[in-house]
Amino acid sequence: MSSRERASGAPLEQDLGFRLSRISRTLRRQWRDELADLDLAPPEAATLRAIVEHPGCALRALARLLATDPMSAKRCVDGLERRGLVASGHRAGDRRSRTLRASDAGLALFATLNERLRERERHLARLLAPNRRSALELALADLERGLDIEAANNEREPMNESPTNHQHHSTTDAAAMWNERFARDGWAKEPDEELVELASPLAPGDAIDLGCGTGRNALWLARHGWRVTGVDGSIVGLDELRRDALALELASPTTIIADLAAYEPPRESFDLVVLANIHVAPEQRPALFAGAAGAVRPGGHLYVIGHHLDALGLAGPPDPQRLYTEAVLEAGFSNLTIERLERLERRLEDGGDHPVVDVLFWATKPTAVAA
Ligand SMILES: C[S@@+](CC[C@H](N)C(=O)[O-])C[C@H]1O[C@@H](n2cnc3c(N)ncnc32)[C@H](O)[C@@H]1O
Repeated sequence: MSSRERASGAPLEQDLGFRLSRISRTLRRQWRDELADLDLAPPEAATLRAIVEHPGCALRALARLLATDPMSAKRCVDGLERRGLVASGHRAGDRRSRTLRASDAGLALFATLNERLRERERHLARLLAPNRRSALELALADLERGLDIEAANNEREPMNESPTNHQHHSTTDAAAMWNERFARDGWAKEPDEELVELASPLAPGDAIDLGCGTGRNALWLARHGWRVTGVDGSIVGLDELRRDALALELASPTTIIADLAAYEPPRESFDLVVLANIHVAPEQRPALFAGAAGAVRPGGHLYVIGHHLDALGLAGPPDPQRLYTEAVLEAGFSNLTIERLERLERRLEDGGDHPVVDVLFWATKPTAVAA
């Protein structure tokens, strides 16, 4: 038996762990070469990134961000400063506290670095057809969960610039709550009948489902020819969506894991924006609504459905401020032309005498008026 063969007879090269680690080593090596081309070592690139993302941070805070010791962080910073990529100053009234900022040259190098990173992501994406890529992402998510690796918080290793092809934005406690809920109780598969009624007559185009959950609406749209992006904070919800998309052999939805409180959808990029049953805290609502309205293309549509304040205690969150009224929606989307704004009463099977009240909002973004 050759030294490369194990007791089972399978060569080591066919071992899953070996292959994953070989891919990871190859990606790291290629990325190190890219960095070397920019005259940066991986720790320097990580340091520059942290300083650009946290301008004015102190050395100790930087070391914490990089999960390294202050001396190693200082060595990197000194090197970057000697090259004119970083400038240090001092906190007002505290000469001992060294604060750090990227210089113009540092910012320009960082922009190049990011462009290289995006090009690598595009290259990796081109190596796989969309459904193969979804299958790979699902398999990786299973492995990460099984190995207790928090995928959403594992974008970058300390002091090590590693390429990533995840679309990750930071997620929150709400995500943990929804992960648990989806895993425990599951979620409906049928799309909203109101969305089906309103979207069916439209020519399919680009759609985004903000807070798509397990994707019942996003999947219906994708099945009907829309190119859909689903955004949610719950990895469990998005996994289910991608599994279903794979089973249906759909090229979309594309999924983005993100906290809606921080996520800004691309402006004027969608023919349809969906916000279904998203009851965020009142302080998060203005930005969410502005982002949703901003994402609609001129002539495109916004669909919102959610629990009405009159459903308090019967459905939805117990905080009345998270529920909708007609006035909240009217005021929140005053730049759109409202086509429908109505209360919908639904009888729950075991809901007694009281119907649950939802509110439906359907609006269009005006096209530019010719001068
Ligand atoms: C009631 S479910 C609705 C799911 C889907 N829109 C539907 O109607 O089937 C609420 C969804 O919003 C997501 N969500 C709530 N707050 C969020 C936040 N701040 N960031 C990202 N997702 C959030 C949850 O993860 C969950 O998937």
